[in-house]
Amino acid sequence: MGLVTSKSILDAANERRYAVGAFNVNNLEFAKAVIGAAVEERSPIIVQVSESAIAYAGMKQITGIVASLAGNADVPVALHLDHGRDWATIVQCIANGFTSVMIDGSHLPFDENVAITRKVVEVAHAAGVSVEAELGKLAGIEDYVVVDEREALLTDPDEALAFVERTEVDALAVAIGTSHGPRKFKGEPVLAIDLVSKIKEKVGIPLVLHGASGVPAEIIELAERFGAEWGGSKGIPDRSIVDAVSRGINKVNIDTDMRLAFIASVRETLSTRPETTDPRDLLKPAMVRVKSVAAGKMRLFGSAGRA
Ligand code: G3H
Ligand code: 13P
Ligand code: ZN
Repeated sequence: MGLVTSKSILDAANERRYAVGAFNVNNLEFAKAVIGAAVEERSPIIVQVSESAIAYAGMKQITGIVASLAGNADVPVALHLDHGRDWATIVQCIANGFTSVMIDGSHLPFDENVAITRKVVEVAHAAGVSVEAELGKLAGIEDYVVVDEREALLTDPDEALAFVERTEVDALAVAIGTSHGPRKFKGEPVLAIDLVSKIKEKVGIPLVLHGASGVPAEIIELAERFGAEWGGSKGIPDRSIVDAVSRGINKVNIDTDMRLAFIASVRETLSTRPETTDPRDLLKPAMVRVKSVAAGKMRLFGSAGRA
């Protein structure tokens, strides 16, 4: 099967109330791992590449890797630009076969976010490419005791409706208190999950959750046993993800959990196999761990068995 749009994948998920994982990849190992997981789990998948991943791997190279793996996979695969901010990169992605792009104008004032998003929608839709945009700011909300400050970070449901009507985006990323990376919370997780229902009621379109990694204790323990210093790493509990999906999240972005699993595995192999001189002895078990993380997410999000 060739690459499909994220709209086709997410509209089906929206209709049947599950979410699809969007997994960040930078190289062959991650791309093979996540697409391999999708095939085994019979799950649709969104493979996403950030601007810095493109700078790292090369536009033609990363596109070629994902497109060729998708061509051999018998499940729907979309290739998506994650957090696009640079106009030239967005246009290049569209020209190079991406089937989906994100325009991240979340740092801009509302009207400017609308304007740049609308411009991307016009160019992308003319080429048959789906568009995700973001409204609200991704940041932990636990430290915001001042209610006004906290509210300013989160996505406002009425603004979300105006934004979707004016831009005609295909999917909207919302801010409910998640954040990127391994250190999401200092204490107990604080999320405004009820906001998902309120936004969904207004806009109806597929909603996206960024910063959704769980940061599992077993992976932290494994890595720390072999020398990692990851103190303070805390993620989003699985039960919160299930709750958010039941309220209308249809795309869940995962990068950190795969990075942690990969590094934990490399550390373990380096320590337990000091004799090896073959990089594949490090990469193969790390790839297996990343694949297992992705497969677990597909089951958690409810996308397993849908393809
Ligand atoms: O949200 C950001 C993703 O985790 C990608 O991160 O820019 O380091 O590739 P990156
Ligand atoms: P995590 O850092 O929680 O994996 O989030 C990834 C993400 O949102 C990529 O856009
Ligand atoms: Zn993100």
